[in-house]
Amino acid sequence: MFFMWRSHLAKSLHQHRNQPEARFLQLATIGLDQRPRNRTVVFRGFLENSDRYRDCLKIVTDRRSQKTEQINANPWAEVNWYFTKTRSQFRILGKLILIDHEYPDLELQKARSDAWSSLSEPARVQFAWAHPREPRVSFPEVAPSTPEQPLESFCLLLLEPTEVDRLELRGTPQNRWLHLRDEQGNWTDREVNP
Ligand SMILES: Cc1cc2nc3c(=O)[nH]c(=O)nc-3n(C[C@H](O)[C@H](O)[C@H](O)COP(=O)(O)O)c2cc1C
Repeated sequence: MFFMWRSHLAKSLHQHRNQPEARFLQLATIGLDQRPRNRTVVFRGFLENSDRYRDCLKIVTDRRSQKTEQINANPWAEVNWYFTKTRSQFRILGKLILIDHEYPDLELQKARSDAWSSLSEPARVQFAWAHPREPRVSFPEVAPSTPEQPLESFCLLLLEPTEVDRLELRGTPQNRWLHLRDEQGNWTDREVNP
């Protein structure tokens, strides 16, 4: 049984199941200079099979990217996701958990390995590219990586939501809901004006 916002998100994902671009979402963090930073990432599902982290959105990223130091300084982030067919926007606020190769929790380290194994070879090879955002160099041929052993630069990034602001454009007036999570992990749903 999903919470209300998860059911709506599942419905939108289902309706866009033939559109891979529907899994692109915008992830905003806070820069070290306190200015916003925003980029597109791929949604890689929820961390199913976990009681503690079951609502967490999975993303994969490179430890050498700038978001790493931003998350270490301030884990708060917001995702923005718009689905054209259902005409619904999800703004998901929460804290990010960055699982790098040194992360001590075994359950999450296993989730990191699983995420690595499910990447395609072209996706895996990007983690062996030269350091992101440094002056351009010619890339040497890199040896194919193995699906069993994640490269050190590979991180699983979890967004643990605490607030979901859902806007449905369909309807006049439009429909808007606030879904809030309390300390115990229970969600309440409030209908608000658009
Ligand atoms: C369609 C698309 C999908 C992307 N997916 C990811 C992703 O899943 N993870 C990721 O770290 N970067 C992804 N990127 C690259 C990011 O947008 C960004 O350039 C990169 O993560 C570096 O960001 P940062 O320097 O703010 O950390 C994607 C870019 C595009 C255009």
